[in-house]
Amino acid sequence: MCGIIAYIGYRPALPILLDGLKKLEYRGYDSAGFSVMGEKELVTVKRKGRISELEKAVDSSATASKIGIAHTRWATHGEPNEINAHPHLSCDGSIVIVHNGIIENYSVLKELLISEGHRFTSETDSEVIVHLIEKFYRGNLESAVVAALENVEGTYGLAVLHRSENKIVVARKGSPMVIGLGQNETIIASDAVAIVAHTKKVVYLNDNEIAVINGTECIVRKLDGSMITPEIQEIRWTAGQIEKRGFKHFMLKEIFEQPEAILNTLRGRIKDNRVKLSLSVDFDRVKRILLTACGTSWHSALIGKIYFEKYAGIPAEVDYASEFRYRQGIIDENVLVVVISQSGETADTLAALRKAKTAGAQVIGIVNAVGSTIAREVNSGIYLHAGPEIGVASTKAFVCQTMALLLLSLWFRQEKRLPVSDAFIERLFQIPAQIGKILEDAPQITRIASEYSQKQNALYLGRGISFPVALEGALKLKEISYIHAEGYPAAEMKHGPIALIDENMPVVFLATNGQVFDKVMSNMQEVKARRGIILTVTDRENKLLNDLSNHIFYVPETDEDLSPLLNVIPLQLLAYEIADQKGLNVDKPRNLAKSVTVE
Ligand code: F6R
Repeated sequence: MCGIIAYIGYRPALPILLDGLKKLEYRGYDSAGFSVMGEKELVTVKRKGRISELEKAVDSSATASKIGIAHTRWATHGEPNEINAHPHLSCDGSIVIVHNGIIENYSVLKELLISEGHRFTSETDSEVIVHLIEKFYRGNLESAVVAALENVEGTYGLAVLHRSENKIVVARKGSPMVIGLGQNETIIASDAVAIVAHTKKVVYLNDNEIAVINGTECIVRKLDGSMITPEIQEIRWTAGQIEKRGFKHFMLKEIFEQPEAILNTLRGRIKDNRVKLSLSVDFDRVKRILLTACGTSWHSALIGKIYFEKYAGIPAEVDYASEFRYRQGIIDENVLVVVISQSGETADTLAALRKAKTAGAQVIGIVNAVGSTIAREVNSGIYLHAGPEIGVASTKAFVCQTMALLLLSLWFRQEKRLPVSDAFIERLFQIPAQIGKILEDAPQITRIASEYSQKQNALYLGRGISFPVALEGALKLKEISYIHAEGYPAAEMKHGPIALIDENMPVVFLATNGQVFDKVMSNMQEVKARRGIILTVTDRENKLLNDLSNHIFYVPETDEDLSPLLNVIPLQLLAYEIADQKGLNVDKPRNLAKSVTVE
Protein backbone atom coordinates (compact mmCIF):
# COMPACT_ATOMS: atom_id res chain seq x y z
CA MET A 1 0.00 0.00 0.00
CA CYS A 2 1.04 3.65 0.03
CA GLY A 3 4.68 4.33 0.77
CA ILE A 4 6.49 7.36 2.15
CA ILE A 5 10.15 8.33 1.84
CA ALA A 6 11.64 11.62 3.00
CA TYR A 7 15.19 12.95 3.17
CA ILE A 8 17.05 15.78 4.86
CA GLY A 9 20.83 16.02 4.92
CA TYR A 10 23.87 17.06 2.90
CA ARG A 11 23.29 15.06 -0.31
CA PRO A 12 20.91 15.85 -3.20
CA ALA A 13 17.56 14.52 -2.00
CA LEU A 14 15.99 13.50 -5.29
CA PRO A 15 18.06 10.40 -6.18
CA ILE A 16 17.53 9.13 -2.63
CA LEU A 17 13.80 9.77 -2.82
CA LEU A 18 13.43 8.07 -6.21
CA ASP A 19 15.52 5.11 -5.11
CA GLY A 20 13.42 4.87 -1.93
CA LEU A 21 10.21 4.93 -3.96
CA LYS A 22 11.51 2.03 -6.05
CA LYS A 23 12.26 0.07 -2.89
CA LEU A 24 8.67 0.69 -1.79
CA GLU A 25 7.19 -0.36 -5.15
CA TYR A 26 6.62 -3.89 -3.92
CA ARG A 27 3.94 -2.64 -1.54
CA GLY A 28 1.72 -1.85 -4.53
CA TYR A 29 0.88 1.60 -5.94
CA ASP A 30 -0.80 3.32 -8.84
CA SER A 31 0.79 6.78 -8.85
CA ALA A 32 3.77 8.53 -7.32
CA GLY A 33 5.12 11.98 -6.59
CA PHE A 34 7.68 14.09 -4.75
CA SER A 35 8.27 17.60 -3.43
CA VAL A 36 11.72 19.10 -2.95
CA MET A 37 12.86 22.61 -2.12
CA GLY A 38 13.62 24.58 -5.30
CA GLU A 39 15.43 27.93 -5.27
CA LYS A 40 12.56 29.74 -3.59
CA GLU A 41 9.51 27.54 -3.96
CA LEU A 42 8.68 23.90 -3.39
CA VAL A 43 8.94 21.90 -6.60
CA THR A 44 6.29 19.19 -6.77
CA VAL A 45 6.04 16.54 -9.48
CA LYS A 46 3.42 13.78 -9.62
CA ARG A 47 2.60 11.12 -12.16
CA LYS A 48 0.08 8.36 -12.62
CA GLY A 49 1.60 4.90 -13.13
CA ARG A 50 5.14 3.69 -12.61
CA ILE A 51 7.99 5.53 -10.96
CA SER A 52 9.79 5.55 -14.31
CA GLU A 53 7.11 8.03 -15.47
CA LEU A 54 7.96 10.26 -12.53
CA GLU A 55 11.68 10.03 -13.30
CA LYS A 56 11.03 11.19 -16.87
CA ALA A 57 9.27 14.30 -15.53
CA VAL A 58 12.20 15.50 -13.37
CA ASP A 59 13.75 18.82 -14.43
CA SER A 60 16.82 20.73 -13.21
CA SER A 61 14.85 22.87 -10.72
CA ALA A 62 14.52 19.79 -8.51
CA THR A 63 17.98 18.30 -8.58
CA ALA A 64 20.02 20.40 -6.13
CA SER A 65 17.67 20.28 -3.14
CA LYS A 66 18.85 18.52 0.02
CA ILE A 67 15.41 18.13 1.52
CA GLY A 68 12.30 16.44 0.15
CA ILE A 69 9.37 14.10 0.64
CA ALA A 70 7.94 11.51 -1.74
CA HIS A 71 5.09 9.04 -1.94
CA THR A 72 3.66 6.05 -3.76
CA ARG A 73 -0.15 6.05 -3.67
CA TRP A 74 -2.54 3.11 -3.69
CA ALA A 75 -5.95 4.64 -4.34
CA THR A 76 -8.61 4.53 -1.65
CA HIS A 77 -10.42 7.88 -1.99
CA GLY A 78 -10.47 9.09 -5.57
CA GLU A 79 -9.26 7.35 -8.69
CA PRO A 80 -5.58 6.83 -9.45
CA ASN A 81 -4.54 9.94 -11.36
CA GLU A 82 -2.00 12.75 -11.21
CA ILE A 83 -4.21 15.12 -9.23
CA ASN A 84 -4.99 12.60 -6.51
CA ALA A 85 -1.35 11.51 -6.27
CA HIS A 86 0.65 12.86 -3.30
CA PRO A 87 2.25 15.21 -2.25
CA HIS A 88 -0.65 17.59 -1.60
CA LEU A 89 -0.08 21.32 -1.33
CA SER A 90 -1.65 24.07 0.73
CA CYS A 91 -3.51 26.83 -1.16
CA ASP A 92 -0.50 29.18 -1.11
CA GLY A 93 1.93 26.37 -2.01
CA SER A 94 4.02 26.90 1.14
CA ILE A 95 3.23 23.56 2.84
CA VAL A 96 3.29 20.11 1.38
CA ILE A 97 2.39 16.70 2.83
CA VAL A 98 2.52 13.01 2.06
CA HIS A 99 0.11 10.78 3.95
CA ASN A 100 -0.53 7.08 4.46
CA GLY A 101 -3.74 5.95 6.16
CA ILE A 102 -7.33 7.10 6.06
CA ILE A 103 -8.89 10.26 7.46
CA GLU A 104 -12.35 9.14 8.51
CA ASN A 105 -13.89 12.57 9.16
CA TYR A 106 -12.48 14.12 5.99
CA SER A 107 -15.79 15.08 4.43
CA VAL A 108 -16.86 17.15 7.47
CA LEU A 109 -13.43 18.77 7.61
CA LYS A 110 -13.41 19.43 3.87
CA GLU A 111 -16.77 21.18 4.02
CA LEU A 112 -15.60 23.32 6.91
CA LEU A 113 -12.31 24.23 5.25
CA ILE A 114 -14.05 25.09 1.96
CA SER A 115 -16.44 27.37 3.87
CA GLU A 116 -13.36 29.09 5.28
CA GLY A 117 -11.97 29.69 1.80
CA HIS A 118 -9.62 26.74 1.24
CA ARG A 119 -9.50 25.46 -2.34
CA PHE A 120 -9.24 21.71 -2.81
CA THR A 121 -7.84 20.19 -5.96
CA SER A 122 -8.04 16.44 -5.32
CA GLU A 123 -10.72 13.94 -4.31
CA THR A 124 -8.52 12.51 -1.56
CA ASP A 125 -9.12 12.39 2.16
CA SER A 126 -5.43 13.25 2.67
CA GLU A 127 -5.72 16.75 1.26
CA VAL A 128 -7.68 17.98 4.29
CA ILE A 129 -4.53 17.55 6.40
CA VAL A 130 -2.49 20.09 4.44
CA HIS A 131 -5.31 22.64 4.53
CA LEU A 132 -5.72 22.13 8.27
CA ILE A 133 -1.98 22.68 8.77
CA GLU A 134 -2.22 25.82 6.64
CA LYS A 135 -5.14 27.02 8.74
CA PHE A 136 -3.16 26.65 11.99
CA TYR A 137 0.24 27.78 10.70
CA ARG A 138 1.65 30.76 12.64
CA GLY A 139 5.36 30.46 11.82
CA ASN A 140 5.96 27.08 13.50
CA LEU A 141 5.34 23.97 11.44
CA GLU A 142 5.39 21.53 14.35
CA SER A 143 2.69 23.43 16.30
CA ALA A 144 0.54 23.68 13.19
CA VAL A 145 0.81 19.92 12.56
CA VAL A 146 -0.12 19.17 16.18
CA ALA A 147 -3.14 21.48 15.97
CA ALA A 148 -4.21 19.92 12.67
CA LEU A 149 -3.92 16.38 13.99
CA GLU A 150 -6.07 17.25 16.99
CA ASN A 151 -8.89 17.68 14.49
CA VAL A 152 -8.52 14.53 12.45
CA GLU A 153 -10.05 11.13 13.14
CA GLY A 154 -8.47 8.13 11.47
CA THR A 155 -5.00 6.86 10.80
CA TYR A 156 -1.89 8.52 9.51
CA GLY A 157 1.75 8.19 8.73
CA LEU A 158 2.62 11.73 7.76
CA ALA A 159 5.59 13.76 6.52
CA VAL A 160 5.34 17.53 6.12
CA LEU A 161 7.55 20.28 4.68
CA HIS A 162 7.26 24.07 4.81
CA ARG A 163 9.16 26.12 2.23
CA SER A 164 10.63 28.46 4.90
CA GLU A 165 11.60 25.87 7.50
CA ASN A 166 14.55 23.57 6.89
CA LYS A 167 13.01 20.60 8.67
CA ILE A 168 10.69 17.65 8.15
CA VAL A 169 7.87 17.01 10.57
CA VAL A 170 6.60 13.44 10.76
CA ALA A 171 3.78 11.93 12.78
CA ARG A 172 2.19 8.58 13.21
CA LYS A 173 -1.09 7.03 14.26
CA GLY A 174 -1.87 3.56 13.01
CA SER A 175 0.41 3.72 9.97
CA PRO A 176 4.12 3.00 10.35
CA MET A 177 6.90 5.58 10.18
CA VAL A 178 10.56 4.72 10.61
CA ILE A 179 13.30 7.32 11.07
CA GLY A 180 16.74 6.26 9.80
CA LEU A 181 19.56 8.11 11.55
CA GLY A 182 22.57 8.51 9.25
CA GLN A 183 25.73 10.65 9.58
CA ASN A 184 24.46 14.23 9.25
CA GLU A 185 21.44 13.02 7.32
CA THR A 186 18.09 11.45 8.11
CA ILE A 187 16.02 9.20 5.90
CA ILE A 188 12.42 8.73 6.92
CA ALA A 189 10.17 6.05 5.46
CA SER A 190 7.04 4.06 6.05
CA ASP A 191 9.10 0.86 5.68
CA ALA A 192 12.69 0.18 6.71
CA VAL A 193 13.26 -1.42 3.28
CA ALA A 194 13.71 2.11 1.88
CA ILE A 195 16.21 3.07 4.58
CA VAL A 196 18.56 0.12 5.04
CA ALA A 197 20.89 1.03 2.16
CA HIS A 198 21.71 4.30 3.98
CA THR A 199 21.74 3.43 7.66
CA LYS A 200 20.85 0.60 9.99
CA LYS A 201 20.15 2.81 12.99
CA VAL A 202 16.44 3.46 13.20
CA VAL A 203 13.76 4.84 15.47
CA TYR A 204 10.28 3.36 15.06
CA LEU A 205 7.78 6.10 15.78
CA ASN A 206 4.87 5.01 18.00
CA ASP A 207 1.24 6.02 17.65
CA ASN A 208 0.51 9.60 18.72
CA GLU A 209 4.13 10.65 18.38
CA ILE A 210 5.53 13.48 16.32
CA ALA A 211 9.17 14.00 15.31
CA VAL A 212 10.94 17.11 14.06
CA ILE A 213 14.05 16.38 12.03
CA ASN A 214 16.53 18.95 10.83
CA GLY A 215 19.24 16.71 9.41
CA THR A 216 21.46 16.42 12.45
CA GLU A 217 18.85 16.30 15.18
CA CYS A 218 15.67 14.30 15.68
CA ILE A 219 13.34 15.41 18.43
CA VAL A 220 10.45 13.13 19.29
CA ARG A 221 7.43 14.15 21.38
CA LYS A 222 4.00 12.81 22.12
CA LEU A 223 1.22 14.77 20.48
CA ASP A 224 0.31 16.06 23.96
CA GLY A 225 3.74 17.76 24.08
CA SER A 226 5.57 15.45 26.51
CA MET A 227 9.16 14.63 25.48
CA ILE A 228 10.27 11.13 24.52
CA THR A 229 13.74 9.65 24.50
CA PRO A 230 13.57 7.66 21.28
CA GLU A 231 14.83 4.10 21.39
CA ILE A 232 17.43 3.60 18.65
CA GLN A 233 17.26 0.11 17.16
CA GLU A 234 19.52 -1.72 14.73
CA ILE A 235 18.16 -3.28 11.51
CA ARG A 236 19.50 -6.83 11.39
CA TRP A 237 19.14 -7.59 7.68
CA THR A 238 21.16 -6.20 4.80
CA ALA A 239 20.37 -4.16 1.70
CA GLY A 240 21.49 -7.21 -0.36
CA GLN A 241 18.54 -9.17 0.97
CA ILE A 242 16.15 -6.88 -0.88
CA GLU A 243 17.78 -7.47 -4.24
CA LYS A 244 16.87 -10.15 -6.77
CA ARG A 245 20.35 -11.71 -6.88
CA GLY A 246 19.99 -13.13 -10.38
CA PHE A 247 16.44 -14.43 -9.99
CA LYS A 248 13.91 -13.17 -12.52
CA HIS A 249 11.48 -12.16 -9.78
CA PHE A 250 11.51 -11.62 -6.03
CA MET A 251 8.82 -14.27 -5.68
CA LEU A 252 11.06 -16.89 -7.28
CA LYS A 253 14.00 -15.84 -5.15
CA GLU A 254 11.85 -16.08 -2.05
CA ILE A 255 10.58 -19.54 -3.02
CA PHE A 256 14.19 -20.65 -3.34
CA GLU A 257 15.12 -19.04 -0.02
CA GLN A 258 12.75 -21.30 1.89
CA PRO A 259 15.26 -23.91 3.09
CA GLU A 260 17.33 -21.16 4.70
CA ALA A 261 14.30 -19.24 5.94
CA ILE A 262 12.96 -22.30 7.77
CA LEU A 263 16.38 -22.92 9.30
CA ASN A 264 16.33 -19.34 10.54
CA THR A 265 12.92 -19.86 12.14
CA LEU A 266 14.24 -22.99 13.85
CA ARG A 267 17.61 -21.55 14.84
CA GLY A 268 18.21 -21.57 18.58
CA ARG A 269 14.68 -22.72 19.26
CA ILE A 270 15.33 -26.43 19.68
CA LYS A 271 18.05 -27.65 22.02
CA ASP A 272 18.52 -31.22 23.19
CA ASN A 273 15.28 -32.05 21.38
CA ARG A 274 13.36 -29.52 23.50
CA VAL A 275 11.63 -26.44 22.14
CA LYS A 276 12.96 -23.24 23.74
CA LEU A 277 10.82 -20.15 23.34
CA SER A 278 10.94 -17.04 25.46
CA LEU A 279 7.30 -16.14 25.71
CA SER A 280 5.46 -14.51 28.56
CA VAL A 281 2.41 -16.75 28.81
CA ASP A 282 0.57 -17.67 31.97
CA PHE A 283 0.15 -21.23 30.87
CA ASP A 284 -2.41 -22.25 33.53
CA ARG A 285 -4.83 -19.61 32.29
CA VAL A 286 -4.95 -20.89 28.71
CA LYS A 287 -8.20 -22.81 28.24
CA ARG A 288 -8.69 -21.97 24.58
CA ILE A 289 -6.61 -20.64 21.69
CA LEU A 290 -7.85 -18.29 19.00
CA LEU A 291 -5.68 -17.83 15.92
CA THR A 292 -6.39 -14.77 13.85
CA ALA A 293 -4.86 -13.41 10.63
CA CYS A 294 -5.63 -12.54 7.01
CA GLY A 295 -4.89 -14.18 3.66
CA THR A 296 -1.95 -16.53 3.53
CA SER A 297 -1.29 -16.00 7.23
CA TRP A 298 -4.85 -17.18 7.88
CA HIS A 299 -4.04 -20.37 5.99
CA SER A 300 -1.09 -21.03 8.28
CA ALA A 301 -3.46 -20.40 11.21
CA LEU A 302 -5.69 -23.24 9.95
CA ILE A 303 -2.70 -25.57 10.15
CA GLY A 304 -1.84 -24.13 13.57
CA LYS A 305 -5.28 -25.11 14.86
CA ILE A 306 -4.58 -28.73 13.92
CA TYR A 307 -1.21 -28.56 15.72
CA PHE A 308 -2.62 -27.01 18.89
CA GLU A 309 -5.40 -29.53 19.18
CA LYS A 310 -3.16 -32.49 18.46
CA TYR A 311 0.07 -31.59 20.26
CA ALA A 312 -1.06 -29.25 23.02
CA GLY A 313 -4.51 -30.76 23.57
CA ILE A 314 -6.00 -27.27 23.74
CA PRO A 315 -9.20 -26.35 21.87
CA ALA A 316 -8.30 -23.96 19.08
CA GLU A 317 -10.32 -21.91 16.62
CA VAL A 318 -9.38 -19.72 13.67
CA ASP A 319 -10.97 -16.44 12.70
CA TYR A 320 -10.32 -13.95 9.92
CA ALA A 321 -9.03 -10.85 11.68
CA SER A 322 -11.46 -8.74 9.64
CA GLU A 323 -14.38 -10.79 11.01
CA PHE A 324 -13.11 -11.19 14.54
CA ARG A 325 -12.67 -7.46 15.01
CA TYR A 326 -16.39 -6.77 14.55
CA ARG A 327 -17.86 -9.96 15.96
CA GLN A 328 -19.07 -10.34 19.51
CA GLY A 329 -16.77 -13.30 20.07
CA ILE A 330 -16.29 -14.85 23.49
CA ILE A 331 -12.85 -13.68 24.52
CA ASP A 332 -11.63 -13.32 28.08
CA GLU A 333 -8.51 -13.81 30.17
CA ASN A 334 -8.67 -17.59 29.64
CA VAL A 335 -8.11 -17.26 25.91
CA LEU A 336 -4.73 -17.05 24.26
CA VAL A 337 -4.95 -15.11 21.01
CA VAL A 338 -2.24 -15.83 18.46
CA VAL A 339 -2.00 -13.10 15.82
CA ILE A 340 -0.09 -14.00 12.68
CA SER A 341 1.23 -11.47 10.19
CA GLN A 342 4.17 -11.35 7.83
CA SER A 343 4.24 -7.55 7.62
CA GLY A 344 3.11 -6.88 11.17
CA GLU A 345 1.14 -3.94 9.79
CA THR A 346 -2.10 -5.46 8.44
CA ALA A 347 -4.86 -3.14 9.67
CA ASP A 348 -7.43 -5.85 10.39
CA THR A 349 -4.94 -8.05 12.23
CA LEU A 350 -3.76 -5.10 14.28
CA ALA A 351 -7.36 -4.24 15.19
CA ALA A 352 -7.99 -7.88 16.16
CA LEU A 353 -4.92 -7.80 18.40
CA ARG A 354 -6.09 -4.61 20.12
CA LYS A 355 -9.57 -6.02 20.60
CA ALA A 356 -8.13 -9.19 22.17
CA LYS A 357 -5.97 -7.17 24.54
CA THR A 358 -8.89 -4.98 25.57
CA ALA A 359 -10.90 -8.12 26.33
CA GLY A 360 -8.13 -9.24 28.71
CA ALA A 361 -6.83 -12.12 26.58
CA GLN A 362 -3.16 -13.05 26.52
CA VAL A 363 -1.71 -12.32 23.12
CA ILE A 364 1.20 -13.83 21.21
CA GLY A 365 2.41 -12.56 17.84
CA ILE A 366 3.95 -14.55 15.01
CA VAL A 367 5.50 -11.86 12.86
CA ASN A 368 8.21 -11.52 10.24
CA ALA A 369 8.84 -7.77 10.08
CA VAL A 370 10.99 -6.83 13.05
CA GLY A 371 9.88 -3.64 14.80
CA SER A 372 6.49 -3.63 13.06
CA THR A 373 3.43 -2.37 14.90
CA ILE A 374 2.02 -5.81 15.70
CA ALA A 375 5.43 -6.99 16.90
CA ARG A 376 5.61 -4.05 19.26
CA GLU A 377 2.08 -4.31 20.58
CA VAL A 378 1.93 -8.01 21.45
CA ASN A 379 2.94 -9.15 24.94
CA SER A 380 5.51 -11.50 23.44
CA GLY A 381 5.97 -13.47 20.27
CA ILE A 382 7.99 -15.42 17.75
CA TYR A 383 9.84 -13.65 14.97
CA LEU A 384 10.08 -15.73 11.79
CA HIS A 385 13.53 -14.41 10.81
CA ALA A 386 12.60 -15.22 7.19
CA GLY A 387 14.20 -11.99 5.92
CA PRO A 388 12.34 -9.34 3.94
CA GLU A 389 9.54 -10.68 1.73
CA ILE A 390 9.22 -8.37 -1.27
CA GLY A 391 7.09 -10.37 -3.74
CA VAL A 392 3.48 -9.46 -3.08
CA ALA A 393 2.48 -13.12 -3.03
CA SER A 394 3.59 -14.53 0.29
CA THR A 395 5.72 -17.67 0.08
CA LYS A 396 8.53 -18.04 2.59
CA ALA A 397 6.45 -16.39 5.31
CA PHE A 398 3.87 -19.18 4.99
CA VAL A 399 6.27 -22.04 5.61
CA CYS A 400 7.98 -20.16 8.44
CA GLN A 401 4.64 -19.29 10.07
CA THR A 402 3.65 -22.94 9.86
CA MET A 403 6.94 -23.96 11.45
CA ALA A 404 6.59 -21.32 14.18
CA LEU A 405 3.07 -22.55 14.98
CA LEU A 406 4.36 -26.10 15.21
CA LEU A 407 7.10 -24.99 17.61
CA LEU A 408 4.54 -23.14 19.70
CA SER A 409 2.25 -26.15 19.94
CA LEU A 410 5.20 -28.40 20.89
CA TRP A 411 6.22 -25.85 23.51
CA PHE A 412 2.76 -26.10 25.05
CA ARG A 413 3.01 -29.88 24.89
CA GLN A 414 6.25 -29.82 26.83
CA GLU A 415 4.66 -27.50 29.40
CA LYS A 416 2.02 -30.20 29.87
CA ARG A 417 4.84 -32.69 30.45
CA LEU A 418 3.82 -34.68 27.38
CA PRO A 419 6.58 -36.31 25.33
CA VAL A 420 7.80 -35.10 21.94
CA SER A 421 9.50 -37.93 20.11
CA ASP A 422 13.12 -37.56 19.03
CA ALA A 423 12.19 -39.05 15.66
CA PHE A 424 9.67 -36.25 15.06
CA ILE A 425 12.26 -33.57 15.88
CA GLU A 426 14.69 -35.30 13.54
CA ARG A 427 12.12 -35.19 10.72
CA LEU A 428 11.53 -31.55 11.42
CA PHE A 429 15.20 -30.78 10.86
CA GLN A 430 15.09 -32.70 7.56
CA ILE A 431 12.55 -30.27 6.14
CA PRO A 432 14.99 -27.61 4.79
CA ALA A 433 16.95 -30.20 2.79
CA GLN A 434 13.71 -31.80 1.58
CA ILE A 435 12.47 -28.42 0.33
CA GLY A 436 15.85 -28.09 -1.41
CA LYS A 437 15.19 -31.42 -3.14
CA ILE A 438 11.77 -30.24 -4.37
CA LEU A 439 13.34 -27.05 -5.71
CA GLU A 440 15.78 -29.12 -7.74
CA ASP A 441 12.73 -30.57 -9.51
CA ALA A 442 11.38 -27.11 -10.38
CA PRO A 443 11.92 -27.64 -14.16
CA GLN A 444 9.29 -30.38 -14.04
CA ILE A 445 6.76 -27.80 -12.79
CA THR A 446 7.75 -25.44 -15.61
CA ARG A 447 6.75 -28.13 -18.11
CA ILE A 448 3.47 -28.90 -16.35
CA ALA A 449 2.63 -25.20 -16.07
CA SER A 450 2.70 -24.73 -19.84
CA GLU A 451 -0.30 -27.09 -20.11
CA TYR A 452 -2.33 -25.11 -17.56
CA SER A 453 -1.48 -21.50 -18.29
CA GLN A 454 -4.37 -20.98 -20.74
CA LYS A 455 -7.04 -22.44 -18.45
CA GLN A 456 -9.70 -20.19 -16.92
CA ASN A 457 -10.31 -22.10 -13.68
CA ALA A 458 -8.67 -24.55 -11.32
CA LEU A 459 -9.72 -26.55 -8.30
CA TYR A 460 -7.35 -27.46 -5.45
CA LEU A 461 -8.40 -30.35 -3.23
CA GLY A 462 -6.93 -31.76 -0.04
CA ARG A 463 -8.13 -33.20 3.25
CA GLY A 464 -7.10 -32.77 6.87
CA ILE A 465 -3.86 -30.89 7.13
CA SER A 466 -3.71 -30.69 3.33
CA PHE A 467 -6.91 -28.65 3.10
CA PRO A 468 -5.26 -25.34 4.16
CA VAL A 469 -2.49 -26.12 1.66
CA ALA A 470 -5.13 -26.48 -1.07
CA LEU A 471 -6.49 -23.07 -0.08
CA GLU A 472 -3.02 -21.58 -0.19
CA GLY A 473 -2.26 -23.14 -3.60
CA ALA A 474 -5.49 -21.69 -5.00
CA LEU A 475 -4.79 -18.26 -3.51
CA LYS A 476 -1.28 -18.21 -5.03
CA LEU A 477 -2.65 -19.08 -8.46
CA LYS A 478 -5.47 -16.57 -8.49
CA GLU A 479 -3.53 -13.63 -7.12
CA ILE A 480 -0.64 -13.72 -9.57
CA SER A 481 -2.03 -15.47 -12.67
CA TYR A 482 -5.62 -14.11 -12.48
CA ILE A 483 -6.95 -17.63 -13.09
CA HIS A 484 -9.99 -18.29 -10.96
CA ALA A 485 -9.04 -20.98 -8.46
CA GLU A 486 -10.76 -22.48 -5.45
CA GLY A 487 -9.46 -24.60 -2.62
CA TYR A 488 -11.83 -27.17 -1.16
CA PRO A 489 -11.75 -30.08 1.26
CA ALA A 490 -11.59 -33.01 -1.17
CA ALA A 491 -14.63 -34.77 0.29
CA GLU A 492 -16.74 -31.62 0.01
CA MET A 493 -16.34 -31.64 -3.78
CA LYS A 494 -19.40 -33.85 -4.21
CA HIS A 495 -21.53 -31.27 -2.36
CA GLY A 496 -21.23 -28.72 -5.14
CA PRO A 497 -17.96 -28.09 -7.00
CA ILE A 498 -18.21 -31.43 -8.79
CA ALA A 499 -20.72 -29.70 -11.07
CA LEU A 500 -17.82 -27.67 -12.47
CA ILE A 501 -15.77 -30.61 -13.58
CA ASP A 502 -15.30 -31.29 -17.26
CA GLU A 503 -12.39 -31.77 -19.66
CA ASN A 504 -11.36 -28.11 -19.19
CA MET A 505 -11.07 -28.17 -15.42
CA PRO A 506 -7.63 -28.76 -13.91
CA VAL A 507 -7.86 -30.28 -10.44
CA VAL A 508 -4.81 -30.25 -8.21
CA PHE A 509 -4.93 -33.04 -5.64
CA LEU A 510 -2.86 -33.24 -2.49
CA ALA A 511 -2.65 -36.98 -1.97
CA THR A 512 -0.38 -37.42 1.03
CA ASN A 513 0.20 -40.79 2.58
CA GLY A 514 -1.94 -40.94 5.72
CA GLN A 515 -5.31 -41.90 7.05
CA VAL A 516 -7.32 -40.33 4.20
CA PHE A 517 -5.04 -41.33 1.32
CA ASP A 518 -7.50 -43.93 -0.07
CA LYS A 519 -10.42 -41.59 0.35
CA VAL A 520 -8.62 -38.89 -1.63
CA MET A 521 -8.02 -41.47 -4.37
CA SER A 522 -11.78 -42.07 -4.48
CA ASN A 523 -12.28 -38.34 -5.00
CA MET A 524 -9.77 -38.53 -7.83
CA GLN A 525 -11.81 -41.31 -9.44
CA GLU A 526 -14.83 -39.03 -9.31
CA VAL A 527 -12.90 -36.30 -11.14
CA LYS A 528 -11.46 -38.75 -13.65
CA ALA A 529 -14.95 -40.10 -14.42
CA ARG A 530 -15.91 -36.56 -15.45
CA ARG A 531 -12.77 -36.11 -17.59
CA GLY A 532 -11.19 -33.49 -15.29
CA ILE A 533 -7.43 -32.95 -15.69
CA ILE A 534 -5.61 -34.20 -12.60
CA LEU A 535 -2.32 -32.92 -11.23
CA THR A 536 -1.30 -34.84 -8.13
CA VAL A 537 1.21 -33.86 -5.48
CA THR A 538 2.12 -36.91 -3.46
CA ASP A 539 4.79 -38.60 -1.40
CA ARG A 540 3.63 -42.12 -2.27
CA GLU A 541 4.34 -44.27 -5.29
CA ASN A 542 1.11 -46.01 -6.22
CA LYS A 543 0.04 -47.51 -9.52
CA LEU A 544 -3.60 -46.45 -9.34
CA LEU A 545 -2.61 -42.92 -8.33
CA ASN A 546 -0.30 -42.82 -11.30
CA ASP A 547 -3.02 -44.04 -13.66
CA LEU A 548 -5.51 -41.49 -12.40
CA SER A 549 -3.14 -38.52 -12.70
CA ASN A 550 -2.43 -36.59 -15.89
CA HIS A 551 0.64 -35.22 -14.12
CA ILE A 552 2.23 -36.32 -10.90
CA PHE A 553 4.76 -34.47 -8.77
CA TYR A 554 6.56 -36.38 -6.05
CA VAL A 555 7.64 -34.73 -2.82
CA PRO A 556 9.91 -36.40 -0.26
CA GLU A 557 8.23 -38.47 2.40
CA THR A 558 7.85 -36.95 5.88
CA ASP A 559 5.50 -37.06 8.85
CA GLU A 560 1.98 -36.20 7.64
CA ASP A 561 1.87 -33.22 10.04
CA LEU A 562 4.94 -31.74 8.38
CA SER A 563 3.64 -32.33 4.86
CA PRO A 564 2.27 -28.76 4.38
CA LEU A 565 5.85 -27.49 4.54
CA LEU A 566 6.70 -29.62 1.50
CA ASN A 567 3.41 -29.82 -0.42
CA VAL A 568 3.05 -26.07 -0.69
CA ILE A 569 6.35 -25.68 -2.58
CA PRO A 570 5.23 -27.21 -5.92
CA LEU A 571 2.01 -25.21 -5.66
CA GLN A 572 3.97 -21.97 -5.25
CA LEU A 573 6.16 -22.92 -8.20
CA LEU A 574 3.13 -23.83 -10.31
CA ALA A 575 1.46 -20.46 -9.67
CA TYR A 576 4.73 -18.64 -10.34
CA GLU A 577 5.42 -20.48 -13.60
CA ILE A 578 1.88 -20.01 -14.93
CA ALA A 579 1.94 -16.26 -14.16
CA ASP A 580 5.40 -15.87 -15.67
CA GLN A 581 4.46 -17.81 -18.81
CA LYS A 582 1.45 -15.50 -19.19
CA GLY A 583 3.88 -12.58 -19.07
CA LEU A 584 2.28 -11.08 -15.95
CA ASN A 585 3.88 -8.84 -13.37
CA VAL A 586 4.50 -11.61 -10.84
CA ASP A 587 5.94 -9.48 -8.05
CA LYS A 588 3.31 -6.76 -8.29
CA PRO A 589 0.01 -8.30 -9.30
CA ARG A 590 -2.79 -5.90 -10.21
CA ASN A 591 -4.92 -4.41 -7.40
CA LEU A 592 -2.85 -6.04 -4.66
CA ALA A 593 -0.71 -4.48 -1.98
CA LYS A 594 1.98 -6.19 0.04
CA SER A 595 0.99 -4.62 3.29
CA VAL A 596 -2.72 -3.95 3.69
CA THR A 597 -2.72 -1.05 6.11
CA VAL A 598 -6.31 0.03 5.52
CA GLU A 599 -9.57 -1.77 6.26
C1 F6R B 1 -1.16 -13.63 -0.24
C2 F6R B 1 -0.79 -12.55 0.65
C3 F6R B 1 -1.84 -11.93 1.50
C4 F6R B 1 -1.29 -11.72 2.91
C5 F6R B 1 -2.33 -10.96 3.77
C6 F6R B 1 -1.86 -10.81 5.21
O1 F6R B 1 -0.06 -14.11 -0.95
O2 F6R B 1 0.35 -12.15 0.69
O3 F6R B 1 -2.99 -12.71 1.52
O4 F6R B 1 -1.01 -12.96 3.47
O5 F6R B 1 -2.54 -9.70 3.22
O6 F6R B 1 -0.67 -10.12 5.29
P1 F6R B 1 0.25 -10.17 6.57
O7 F6R B 1 0.71 -11.56 6.76
O8 F6R B 1 1.36 -9.21 6.29
O9 F6R B 1 -0.61 -9.72 7.72
